[in-house]
Amino acid sequence: MTAIIIVSVIFIFLLTAFYAGWRGAPWVPTRKEDVKRFLKLANIKPGQKMYDLGCGDGRLLCAAAKIGAQAYGFEISLPLFIAAHIRRFFQKDKCRIKILYRDFWKINLSDADIVYFFLMPKVYPKLKKKFEKELKSGTIVIAYVWPIKEWIPAKIDTKNHCSNLYLYKV
Ligand SMILES: C[S@@+](CC[C@H](N)C(=O)[O-])C[C@H]1O[C@@H](n2cnc3c(N)ncnc32)[C@H](O)[C@@H]1O
Repeated sequence: MTAIIIVSVIFIFLLTAFYAGWRGAPWVPTRKEDVKRFLKLANIKPGQKMYDLGCGDGRLLCAAAKIGAQAYGFEISLPLFIAAHIRRFFQKDKCRIKILYRDFWKINLSDADIVYFFLMPKVYPKLKKKFEKELKSGTIVIAYVWPIKEWIPAKIDTKNHCSNLYLYKV
């Protein structure tokens, strides 16, 4: 009986991870040095709302909260959702970090000041439409690795042997 429960739990965990891979991207974290580049590029002011669409283990949320952001992460892979909560638990600034078990496609983004994402390019056309519909003027959008087609970046952060970060101003 215990074995059946354990196998079922593992199965559900894996299922949510596969589903997340299909809905946006499988989990590959933003590299630690690139999290620092993101912070510098985003130039977050205390109190600004930063959204990570598919927050993985929550590393960007914690880094952004440390410098004063209200950081919101959305995650549908159960193992990562739990990992992000564990990371949050050990942060001094955890009151500024919110991690929700939500599909980001169902989240209204109109409140965000900064939106970060590291997702598969196949979802970009749909994401672009969502941004154009929901984001307020002045929102900063930062894409990791792949640029958004037809949008002109205000800045591109490049570094040898690292992936690019593309900053857009709505
Ligand atoms: C490439 S990882 C990036 C993780 C994190 N943002 C980072 O940069 O380290 C993409 C993440 O998005 C999550 N994801 C994919 N589709 C999603 C969706 N529709 N809603 C919420 N999370 C999603 C995946 O589970 C995965 O953790």
